[in-house]
Amino acid sequence: MKKLFLSSILFLAFGLFIQAQTINSPDGNISLTFEITEGKAIYHLSYKEKPVIKPSSLGFEIKDQEPLQDGFEIRESSTDNFDEIWETVWGEESKIRNQYNELFVSLHQPSTERILDIRFRLFDTGLGFRYEFPLQEKLAHFVIKEELTQFAMAGDHTAFWIPGDYDTQEYDYTESKLSEIKGLMEKAVTGNLSQQPFSLTGVQTSLMMKTDDGLYINLHEAALVDYATMHLNLDDENFTFQSWLNPDAIGDKGYLQAPSTSPWRTVIVSDDARDILASRITYNLNEPSKIEDTSWIKPMKYIGVWWEMITGKSSWAYTDELPSVKLGETDYSKVKPNGIHGANTENVKRYIDFAAEHGFQGVLVEGWNIGWEDWFGNSKDYVFDFVTPYPDFDLEGIRDYAKSKGVEMVMHHETSSSVRNYERHLDKAYQFMKDNGYNSVKSGYVGDILPRGENHYSQWIVNHYQHAIEKAADYQIMVNAHEAVRPTGVSRTWPNLIANESARGTEFQAFGGSKPNHVTVLPFTRLIGGPMDYTPGVFEMDISKVNPDNNSWVNSTLTNQLALYITMYSPLQMAADLPENYERFMDAFQFIKDVPVAWEESRYLEAEPGYYLTIARKEKGTNNWFVGNVNGVPERTSEISFDFLDSGKTYIATIYADDKNAHYRNNPQAYTIRKAIVTQKSKLKQKSASGGGYAISIMEATKEQTKGMKKL
Ligand code: NOJ
Ligand code: CA
Repeated sequence: MKKLFLSSILFLAFGLFIQAQTINSPDGNISLTFEITEGKAIYHLSYKEKPVIKPSSLGFEIKDQEPLQDGFEIRESSTDNFDEIWETVWGEESKIRNQYNELFVSLHQPSTERILDIRFRLFDTGLGFRYEFPLQEKLAHFVIKEELTQFAMAGDHTAFWIPGDYDTQEYDYTESKLSEIKGLMEKAVTGNLSQQPFSLTGVQTSLMMKTDDGLYINLHEAALVDYATMHLNLDDENFTFQSWLNPDAIGDKGYLQAPSTSPWRTVIVSDDARDILASRITYNLNEPSKIEDTSWIKPMKYIGVWWEMITGKSSWAYTDELPSVKLGETDYSKVKPNGIHGANTENVKRYIDFAAEHGFQGVLVEGWNIGWEDWFGNSKDYVFDFVTPYPDFDLEGIRDYAKSKGVEMVMHHETSSSVRNYERHLDKAYQFMKDNGYNSVKSGYVGDILPRGENHYSQWIVNHYQHAIEKAADYQIMVNAHEAVRPTGVSRTWPNLIANESARGTEFQAFGGSKPNHVTVLPFTRLIGGPMDYTPGVFEMDISKVNPDNNSWVNSTLTNQLALYITMYSPLQMAADLPENYERFMDAFQFIKDVPVAWEESRYLEAEPGYYLTIARKEKGTNNWFVGNVNGVPERTSEISFDFLDSGKTYIATIYADDKNAHYRNNPQAYTIRKAIVTQKSKLKQKSASGGGYAISIMEATKEQTKGMKKL
């Protein structure tokens, strides 16, 4: 490591003493400069000489102390570089390169004798930086009032944003200029926004932007551990974002003790949108796996007794009668069943049969445990115990039946956001899972957090989510947490965090619908931090056909739903629809049966946030490839080459595409399926409908198998 002490470049400008240091990304395209200007810590970033982040200041407001924001001097600094390839437990590829150049600066504030360190890592696809608080006398235990990290944008960029909310991330994205955010948010707040943003220019990360001169910029964070989630507040006069940490119940934003660090703040940038999807900055800024033996962590496809509840066809609760005040005191043999309880043994066995027949590893069952009669909105502390089944759910019988069919049951823990109650039960609940053959759990945090006043993304609850993951690892349990804080690459360190929802998932298609281009935005936003349990695969778009009382419409074509198994990367993929809906479209369902969940490598063929993306992935352990294209509202013809295939090999491609007249709203189930021979030289032009898309399975084939078949 080169020690640069005080002054790698010292010069006098306009009579001010400026200390500036610059590092470049390994490929030389990105350049970061750090300097002290008038005592302030300033950084700026450029990509191929275009400004990405204009001079922006760094620092903190500390409770009951002087601000840690000016009067800085550089104490020492150093540069370093790093290059390694690490193996994933699961992911979009089996190996990830982690290559960066680093600048470390240690700042001193002489007036208070405090030290603040900042570490910058510059990768080919962007920047990560974090604050570090070394052990010191004058900053030992402290409370963050606000983090003062600025991201000054170079213009009025187009952004894909959701409101800066403390309690939900489940919004449709709005595409607008930065200057339009305030006006649009004002309208939404008086309209149908379920929650209030902290400010009319407050947004959540991961925030995706596009500049007028064709740069794609993404702001997010990595390794959010023991710290509050970062939202961003925009000063829309000069297009500068400032960090806005999520407060706790008394308005504080974080309790820290040195030595400690902040999460990494990330800026992913490229002039090609595909690079944003291919960037692995977020994972690379997290620590390697802390789980030594990861052999029990396995990607999986699953179905579930779920969509029937989401659509309102059946219920989580066993009865419509109000239960006793205290959980466990209701004698369920004496109450009147409501007749629509989904998690009944016979129904569950039907799903197990379907899973076994079609090769799904898992069956999720929600509403199996007592407490659902008054689970929501009542601030009930002791709301679930996570171990007591309803009388019509034969736990042992189902366990043994699933085992005999080679199917694994997936546990469900809805916490109703009664967080203390969940922690009280956690050991017992996980042990109960292991005793009954459950290796994975879908958890959930619907509604206001208990204790009241806490919100969904403060330091306190970030620590809870982390605790649930780490404790699950002790029991060799995989976690798929819904409504928990959006991920920040922590699953590199804890790969048993196999998915999160933490954004607007498919369930909203049964609650009034999502924008048809939603799935063309999510990979550029929510998925930057890790996989999403989006729960794709809905074939019946007219929800009134599932439940006559629900007029919702799934804003997607059927082949768009197939493509999601590729474009919405997750090691955990659900086939969300009802078995009876799949039985009507067995030819299209074949793709969901064939598509794997473990990948060797991924290629990003076409991409434009909000409009389209096309991804090809190679299955782990075979030579088979799978392609998915999702399309936004305007119809579009996708053009791809199969040059990712091995030369000299022959494959059979099965193309599941929108039919000529398909449309997400008027004709979503119009699709065609065709087979053709493809090789490395093949090319495809394929039209995708409004809200449509296509999916292709590409299986290596022998001469014999391709006999009589045409080339693409
Ligand atoms: C919200 C989750 O996203 C959904 O999947 C689940 O069914 C309900 N909560 C009930 O736990
Ligand atoms: Ca949800």
